[in-house]
Amino acid sequence: MNTLTINGLSLTYKNGHQAIKDISLEIGNGMFGLLGPNGAGKSSLMKTIVGLQKPRSGSIVFNGVNVSENPDYMKQNLGFLPQDFGVYPKVTAYDLLEHIALLKGIRHRAERKTQILNLLDKVNLSEFRKKEVHTFSGGMRQRFGVAQALLGNPKIIIVDEPTAGLDPEERNRFNSLLNDISKEVIVILSTHLVEDVRNLCSEMAIMDKGQVLQKGHPNELVARLENKIWSKAIDKPALDAYRDRYHIISQQLIERTLYITVYSEEPPEDFMAVNPLLEHVYFHTLTQKP
Ligand SMILES: Nc1ncnc2c1ncn2[C@@H]1O[C@H](COP(=O)(O)OP(=O)(O)OP(=O)(O)O)[C@@H](O)[C@H]1O
Ligand SMILES: [Mg+2]
Repeated sequence: MNTLTINGLSLTYKNGHQAIKDISLEIGNGMFGLLGPNGAGKSSLMKTIVGLQKPRSGSIVFNGVNVSENPDYMKQNLGFLPQDFGVYPKVTAYDLLEHIALLKGIRHRAERKTQILNLLDKVNLSEFRKKEVHTFSGGMRQRFGVAQALLGNPKIIIVDEPTAGLDPEERNRFNSLLNDISKEVIVILSTHLVEDVRNLCSEMAIMDKGQVLQKGHPNELVARLENKIWSKAIDKPALDAYRDRYHIISQQLIERTLYITVYSEEPPEDFMAVNPLLEHVYFHTLTQKP
């Protein structure tokens, strides 16, 4: 079992912007989902965990090893797919993996070859191994990105919005690949897709403005909203009046009718009860008054 313990972590960029504020998380094997809107601090948190950003305060301990005191342990056991993996040079997929494998310190030639061929097979790129990476489609690039992250059998894999821009079929394939891997390692995944977290992750956190606002098991977080989510079709001009009276967590236009979804401990009059979903957890968390 691997463990990542983050305690009181804060990060301030050089321009003075505080992107992470006092984050504490305990993460074990399996898939951990990081949800949050644009600018929430997901990438900043990931970059800090992998050692690309130095925290202002707090600690990151991986398998009992303090990462700031011994950065090599994290580096040796890490696979990282950044949000902007912009390296698509004019070399073949195989050669680029060979290059990265060498950088990761896989020195034994035969071992390198076995790993690369296995990984290419795993991500469905075997037949394209002699193609240059810059000619790959978005989905192929992402899968290549996963292959490079998996070189060296990492114990912790961090993928930053890996399915952004993938078509539904590629996304499913990608998700099931991550899911297979996550049985024996830590996989931390950031995304905007609530559905992916629901389907894949055993633990999750919701971030906004640099803070973790909610964390736990997706099913348990959903269960806490039982009998508290309500919906109603309203006339558009009445929206402000409803906003004054209710805690509206989302609004949606369906075939020209405006539906509002509200959070209420008591059943509000004329509303329909709604079975809570993880998306309600997400909107409820983000619309809570501080
Ligand atoms: N190098 C940097 N210097 C200064 N501020 C930065 C830097 N990188 C990010 N930020 C700021 O930190 C905040 C968090 O950014 P971050 O990229 O971590 O968010 P995110 O949750 O990953 O967003 P997205 O979903 O759009 O990827 C934002 O306000 C962003 O503008
Ligand atoms: Mg990001």
